[in-house]
Amino acid sequence: MIDYSDAGRLLGHILMGIRMIDEKMAAIKDFPAEKAMLLKHLVLSHHGNREYGSPEVPKTMEAVLLHYIDEIDSKIHGIREYMESNNPGEPWTAYHRVLERHFFRKKD
Ligand SMILES: [Fe+2]
Repeated sequence: MIDYSDAGRLLGHILMGIRMIDEKMAAIKDFPAEKAMLLKHLVLSHHGNREYGSPEVPKTMEAVLLHYIDEIDSKIHGIREYMESNNPGEPWTAYHRVLERHFFRKKD
């Protein structure tokens, strides 16, 4: 199981991601400034909007795509966990109140 580090919990993965990019870029001579900015924008905007923790909204095509990919990953992860832990051995889960549906599992 992957768990959160103390730094992850106290500082957040967006700030830590920016720091990681800065550290990696510092080790690359003459890293292009625009690429650095665009790369950081991906990390800063991947939650999609400010109310979900993004300091910036996605403003490039790549950033919009990354946001939706991250959102799909998050939703599927939550559904998978629910399906694995709810009514094991039964074909249907209990009703998921937030997503407003039952989920069906293959029988095999
Ligand atoms: Fe995130």
